[in-house]
Amino acid sequence: MSAPVVVLVGPMGVGKTTVGELLAERLGTRFRDSDADIVAAQGRTIADIFVDEGEDRFRELEREAVRTALAGHDGVLALGGGAVLDATTRELLAGLPVVYLTMEVGEAIKRSGLNTARPLLAVNPRQQWKLLMEARRHHYTDVARVVVPTDDLTAEEVTEAVLEAL
Ligand code: S3P
Repeated sequence: MSAPVVVLVGPMGVGKTTVGELLAERLGTRFRDSDADIVAAQGRTIADIFVDEGEDRFRELEREAVRTALAGHDGVLALGGGAVLDATTRELLAGLPVVYLTMEVGEAIKRSGLNTARPLLAVNPRQQWKLLMEARRHHYTDVARVVVPTDDLTAEEVTEAVLEAL
């Protein structure tokens, strides 16, 4: 059974996909993203799944996508921002090189607040983001081996910081 060399967790918009792709390039390995896996399997956007079937159904699909990726991928894996809400997923992450990318709320709004492709931030992004972080921060911290702040850093600089931290 293979396991990812790095798993990136953290809030939406923090740069998990961009940094994950750069990391995979630097490490000479492949990149995989649980959101992209869900979209490919469902043939629908994440926003459409939320609207059509609701968040609970999305979380079920996400749990299975993460389980499959954790068991079958030996490169860099980025998880959707809410994947750590699931207790089974958190258990599956135990012992893996999990990196928590952080950012402050101002940075979050700058990067993703107006991006309606992220349904959880589409309305009142600043307040929503703060509420999400209050509910999730401890889960990210629990599963993370290292924490890497990304505020004011380029994706290349974050990638360096992750490589140094691992
Ligand atoms: C979500 C984050 C998104 C996506 C979905 C829900 C969340 O992934 O899975 O919109 O609950 O934080 P990204 O973190 O890749 O944007």
